Amino acid sequence: MGKILVTGGAGYIGSHTVVELLNKGEEVVIIDNFSNSKKEVLDNIKKITNKDFKFYEINYLDRDAVEKVFEENDIDSVINFAGYKAVGESVQKPLEYYENNIGGAVILLETMKKYNVKKFVFSSSATVYGNPEKVPITEESKIGGTTNPYGTTKLYIEQILQDLYKSDNTWDICILRYFNPVGAHESGLIGEDPKGIPNNLMPYITKVAAGILPELSIFGNDYNTKDGTGVRDYIHVVDLAKGHLLALDKLNKEDNGIFIYNLGTGKGYSVLEMVETFKKVNNVDVPYKIAPRREGDIAECYADPSKAKNELGFEATKNLEDMCRDGWNYQKKQL
Ligand code: UD1
Repeated sequence: MGKILVTGGAGYIGSHTVVELLNKGEEVVIIDNFSNSKKEVLDNIKKITNKDFKFYEINYLDRDAVEKVFEENDIDSVINFAGYKAVGESVQKPLEYYENNIGGAVILLETMKKYNVKKFVFSSSATVYGNPEKVPITEESKIGGTTNPYGTTKLYIEQILQDLYKSDNTWDICILRYFNPVGAHESGLIGEDPKGIPNNLMPYITKVAAGILPELSIFGNDYNTKDGTGVRDYIHVVDLAKGHLLALDKLNKEDNGIFIYNLGTGKGYSVLEMVETFKKVNNVDVPYKIAPRREGDIAECYADPSKAKNELGFEATKNLEDMCRDGWNYQKKQL
């Protein structure tokens, strides 16, 4: 079998997936332009796995550079992690988000077509469900109503993939809708280290616990949920990474198709449960205050994970304690 091209392989979910691919003995080619990641990640992947891979520092909008990668390597499938992902920033810079995420995906798909590579795994997000009509969310739930350009890029790329498959059913496509990825590799060598003040809950908690930020603001305690705070389906990034290997297995053995899976645990935890668990397992303090709701937030979002379980054999194995412990272990090593 040929090599697996991983775009954004130095990023948070990409790096964890590369580790799992290398551990399985796959041959990996990474492209990344370090727009939101660091070069050291590549060395740390090698430290964890004791394996090597090919790397190109290129922007996936650079069509000639992407073509060169396909020219020089026998690529068999592509996992596309590359993309901008900051919700707030996407509201300020919609054109950059549409150009980068959608333009990059289209260039990648065109290049794949040119080189007759037709297996594609796409990083989508539960954000495509907008404000869900009911939870748990199944893959059949209505999509649309995204509240920011970042989410809309995911929605549009999903549509592009549907149209592409309709035009040529020799493509083999897997769309993975992630719920809330958190935690880090247990080695503490790779994880999520957002630049500046984090938007997402877990990195914010770790920065407060580390004393880098003074306190957490809990955005609203008057939602119609178990304790009034927002409920999400947090999934350990290593579990999530393994889901990509199962998706590739599916594309490698099944007849062609376009498949969509939720990747979550099926369990919803509130912001307060997350904070309390983090404090308890790590024995650290996380000062917080209750703040107004954040615009665009929904009360509750968690997956029905049964389709991924039945068709991919995917099941999250790590619990909230693991997520909190590993997230903190990584953060401590960054201090
Ligand atoms: C967000 C994005 C989503 C994206 C995902 C990536 C929005 C509206 N959605 O999801 O599109 O795919 O990140 O992981 O931004 N919270 C606080 N205080 C904080 C930060 C968060 O109370 O400082 C709460 C939020 O209100 C929410 C929960 O924690 O209830 C999780 O928030 P977050 O980690 O930002 O993820 P989502 O909003 O679910």
